[in-house]
Amino acid sequence: MTSSIRKFIFHDLQAIEGYIDPPDALVFLAILGSQQAASLEGGLAEIGVYYGRSYFLLRKICGDAEKIVAIDPFDIVKPDHGGAQYDRFVAGGRQLGLSVDGGRVIKSDSTLLRAEDIIERAGMVRFFSIDGGHMLHHVEADSRLAAASLAEHGIIVFDDTFNPAWPEVTAGVTDFLREEAGRFSVFCLTKYKTYVCRQAFHEFYSRTIKTSPELKAFDHLETEFLGSTAIRLHNPMRRRIAYEVMVGLGMRALSERAYR
Ligand SMILES: C[S@@+](CC[C@H](N)C(=O)[O-])C[C@H]1O[C@@H](n2cnc3c(N)ncnc32)[C@H](O)[C@@H]1O
Repeated sequence: MTSSIRKFIFHDLQAIEGYIDPPDALVFLAILGSQQAASLEGGLAEIGVYYGRSYFLLRKICGDAEKIVAIDPFDIVKPDHGGAQYDRFVAGGRQLGLSVDGGRVIKSDSTLLRAEDIIERAGMVRFFSIDGGHMLHHVEADSRLAAASLAEHGIIVFDDTFNPAWPEVTAGVTDFLREEAGRFSVFCLTKYKTYVCRQAFHEFYSRTIKTSPELKAFDHLETEFLGSTAIRLHNPMRRRIAYEVMVGLGMRALSERAYR
């Protein structure tokens, strides 16, 4: 099963324009797999869908029956982008053979939502991805929304942390972590994302990252961050080069081997 999902990550998903790269896709796979193995149930939610690259990854990993709330104003209009944002999102799903659960799509600015809007559509959430507005007030509102709709065992993943192009994302995430000190802590860091859970589950998710076969290709480095030890997954330059060369040569199906 995971080998077909790995093929999906390295090959099929690349047809959807968007912003999740293979290393984080493998972290998503590891976390969702460990939740499933431990019967940690709950819905999924994403703020900032764009054309659905992460959404379809979640759908592929979790299957049709899982409830995924997808939040985005869907108001991007780019003449060269082949139609309206929402239509292109749905068309991407059709191309991949995956469904969009229209009843759980919320076409809105996320800062206007309440936790009930999410909980009534998906129950308490076990996996919440935040990749919407990138200014401080967005991250403040989105982190509050995620925390209030999160199951005890749920995780929040923030995109674009420590990216110098979006300094207010980093400010918002560190504000959240300091306000929530003792309740939420970081268990994993990648080049692009920061993964957070409640304190009581820190050990569980740290173990997930440490032991997942999906993640053994990365260097695992311990990093102290605001009172907790996070595992920083480092992707060595030689692997990134090998991957880019294979992709450049049109060997997408083979590129997965670089991450074994
Ligand atoms: C970087 S893209 C997300 C990429 C996506 N997660 C992926 O996997 O490809 C950012 C998205 O956030 C949406 N967005 C921007 N401001 C938002 C807001 N206030 N509330 C919800 N979504 C927002 C944009 O419409 C855009 O689709």
